[in-house]
Amino acid sequence: MIMKSAYFPLACVLFLMLAGCYKDTASVDAYVPDNSSASILRAETDIELGKIIQQRGLHANPAKDKNLPSIESPLAQLGMKLFFSKALSGDLDVACATCHHPLLGGGDNLSLSIGVNATAPDVVGHKRLLQGKLSPGVPRNAPTTFNIGLWQNVMFHDGRVEQLASGIHTPDVAPAEVDPHAGSNLVHAQARFPVTSNHEMRGETFDAGGTTQSCRDKLAQRLGGYGDTMQGKLSDAETRYWLDAFRAAYAQPVASAPELITEHNIAAALAEYERSQVFISNPWKHYVEGNLAAISPAAKQGALLFFRERGQGGYACASCHRGDFFTDEQFRNVLLPAIGPGKSNASNPNLQRDYGRWLVTQQETDKFRFRTPSLLNVAVTGPWGHNGAYTSLPSMVEHMLNPFQAALNYDPAQLKQPGIQTGQLQQNLREMLTGDSDLAGQPYPPEDVGKLVAFLHTLTDPCVTDKACMGKWIPPTEQSRQDPMGLQLNARLEP
Ligand code: HEC
Ligand code: HEC
Repeated sequence: MIMKSAYFPLACVLFLMLAGCYKDTASVDAYVPDNSSASILRAETDIELGKIIQQRGLHANPAKDKNLPSIESPLAQLGMKLFFSKALSGDLDVACATCHHPLLGGGDNLSLSIGVNATAPDVVGHKRLLQGKLSPGVPRNAPTTFNIGLWQNVMFHDGRVEQLASGIHTPDVAPAEVDPHAGSNLVHAQARFPVTSNHEMRGETFDAGGTTQSCRDKLAQRLGGYGDTMQGKLSDAETRYWLDAFRAAYAQPVASAPELITEHNIAAALAEYERSQVFISNPWKHYVEGNLAAISPAAKQGALLFFRERGQGGYACASCHRGDFFTDEQFRNVLLPAIGPGKSNASNPNLQRDYGRWLVTQQETDKFRFRTPSLLNVAVTGPWGHNGAYTSLPSMVEHMLNPFQAALNYDPAQLKQPGIQTGQLQQNLREMLTGDSDLAGQPYPPEDVGKLVAFLHTLTDPCVTDKACMGKWIPPTEQSRQDPMGLQLNARLEP
């Protein structure tokens, strides 16, 4: 850890030394404007980056040509209410926002998410703890919901919700089949799954033994106050509150709860809220659009390292983190240290292993492969990796520079969360290496880490770190007072 955090100052010191040395040269030559050699060098970097931007056709506007809703739209407003309501969880204790809070980078600041059985249901972030047993049951890190509408092909770290030519595939149907109930887009299809997961929202007893579909339907019935008498029945005032909200959002003032409050409409509204979270207006975009002062010289150096091919002074990061959304949506084994319970272990809880894409395709070559994440806003979406193994951005970048070395020397002490399983690290690494690793490492000058990190910081939209700007995506407290049973999540960081 000490070594890792040392890179920032080191990069700064090197940069200051260089900057100082340019100044001296300039002042010696009376005929040249003050900072000429520095600005010539800067101009060269800008020219090089300009070529890369042009060759790759980058425009830094991945939302171009996408039809994404505004947060002001009625459906997104209803979606926000639902996203923040614990009414969608079996035991009325978890909301989507518990693990995807707009003020926590659209995630939860945890390596591995904690849904049901928390010591204090409204606490989010790294002080959210599990009751009793401390080992987390959710095997993966919660990805950000920011810019979720920009994914073209796959949702989830293993892509188990997937756009096929003829429709959307989900885990509810056989491999490679289209799910007729998936909804109108990937985000809609995804939004139907968290409520069915025992560890995330469902709990152990709600609709126990039922299917994913019966669970969704029963949650919708409970919310609308119709159908079977169910566990955790809501008050009449609460179901009335939701009926009013659905009638307003769907502009159907006389429709009944069974007509309006369906699992389809719940997921559709959730998806509209999530798809309104477009946060792409970052310094890198301003730079690509021509404001050469929008990013620092260190970030420009980092950008060159990021985009240039190996052997041409770069690390070819963009061969996978491609295009304006910084992902090719493909699956790769980059040797992330295997921590946590793992996902392939339903029958054997001691396996602590996650085969990633293999769980979807059963193809041997897909073992340990995970989706290339987008890097937009990556500075605020930690911990990083599909399981949150890295808790600082520099250490994540070090991993990407030399995966095998980093995995071999991985220090579990960086995990801030108690109880995360780390017993199988070396055994899993050995198994990962028998497959195809998709990322070759190399020794690298330590200052490159700081440059790459400086570049990654330019991908943060200032809105996402501004409480006032994010306010539009968080339901107002007054609304929480209107919620008769007080099920709106009013998240807090402290127990
Ligand atoms: C307990 C924490 C938790 C809760 C509650 C939760 N999620 Fe998630 N979410 C996760 C985790 C963990 C993943 C990654 C799972 C995987 O890839 O296998 C995820 C994945 C996602 C993704 C996919 C993101 C991507 O980049 O592919 C979306 C979208 C999402 N969740 C939305 C929701 C919505 C909507 C709800 C409420 C209905 C919700 N989540 C509730 C933890 C949570
Ligand atoms: C071979 C494809 C590939 C290359 C090349 C690559 N990455 Fe990645 N990157 C991935 C994949 C796949 C993941 C997710 C791995 C996982 O979660 O298991 C990832 C994860 C990351 C993350 C964590 C993001 C998050 O949200 O958790 C960062 C940061 C990152 N890469 C930066 C870089 C940098 C910087 C470079 C160049 C030095 C680079 N990557 C090169 C495929 C690649």
